[in-house]
Amino acid sequence: MMKRIRHYCSPSLIKLTAVLIILMLLGMTLTGCESRTNDPVEEVKIGVLTYDEYDTFINAMTKHMTKWCRQKEKEEDIRITIDIVGAKKSQLTQNDQARKFIAENYDVLCVNLVDRTDASGIIDKAIANDVPVIFFNREPVEEDLSRWDKLYYVGAIARQSGELQAKIITDALSDPERFAEIDVNNNGTIQYVMLEGEAGHQDSLVRTNVCTAALVDAGFSLEKLGDEYANWDRDQARAKMIELIDRYPFQIEMVIANNDDMALGALDVLQEQDYPLDPFVVGINGTEDALEAIRTMKLDGSVYNDAKGQGETIMEMAYDLGTGKDFPDTIEVIFDKYVFTPYSIITYDNVQQYITEES
Ligand code: BGC
Repeated sequence: MMKRIRHYCSPSLIKLTAVLIILMLLGMTLTGCESRTNDPVEEVKIGVLTYDEYDTFINAMTKHMTKWCRQKEKEEDIRITIDIVGAKKSQLTQNDQARKFIAENYDVLCVNLVDRTDASGIIDKAIANDVPVIFFNREPVEEDLSRWDKLYYVGAIARQSGELQAKIITDALSDPERFAEIDVNNNGTIQYVMLEGEAGHQDSLVRTNVCTAALVDAGFSLEKLGDEYANWDRDQARAKMIELIDRYPFQIEMVIANNDDMALGALDVLQEQDYPLDPFVVGINGTEDALEAIRTMKLDGSVYNDAKGQGETIMEMAYDLGTGKDFPDTIEVIFDKYVFTPYSIITYDNVQQYITEES
């Protein structure tokens, strides 16, 4: 018996057992490593940088971003840190904010540039630290965006907003009764003022040019009385409108604004001054206040700029980049870089649909 046992414990058997144990340990270590790499990501850290903290449209977008993250956390059992900082219109401040996020190991940056021609400071840091960047709303120049395959842009096509704004106007002017109401001095020409967003912003430049060109193409006779920058801002638009009314009392028949806040600023002044004419006023964005003004027939129309769609798309992309997933097919990425949401027309006839969607 003893002999047998000794036989079973022969040196070759010991060697074999040792090899088996080593193989088992190796196997365990390998599986352990494997499961570590397959471990679900526990936290995604997203840094959102906006050009300014007082912009109505951008704030609507960031509100939808936060909402999306809270919902995703519930669905996926994952922690999502979303930190939103405004740059007070200083590119240097924004570069510094990006540097801090990168130093604090944020996984993705979502950047609404202050100066869209000056993205290189942020891009250099992002490339050096392998942190993807999704730019939004203020489109970087192509040369910058093409520097790295982990740079993206989410926005909307400015040309389309100009075309649709022109369509709201031409639809109204094509109705002879409406034309007669707007053309108060009855000279067959519409005297108008233009409130522009911001010099150098793609949406400002393109909306202004495309809208006015489309009106001329449609064969209407227009006379531009004034053209002022009001930096997307309701108060600045009010100040500009006061000046314009001083310069052109009883002459302004139409106000075309590059966004809703400026259109509402113009309306504020028209109401406060009890302006004797009832100019046709149009904006762009479809903000909450603008929808209400359209519903109550103060604002004649706006072009819906999908803050919700853009905000949610940016977060979906940031989340996928942070967790190493591919973007879903529902996100159409053009040239592996650009995602655009469509604009649409809002007038009194369909405003209720937008109010319902927003709430
Ligand atoms: C919006 C403006 C906004 C601007 C900020 C534009 O697309 O229409 O309301 O102020 O972006 O960059």
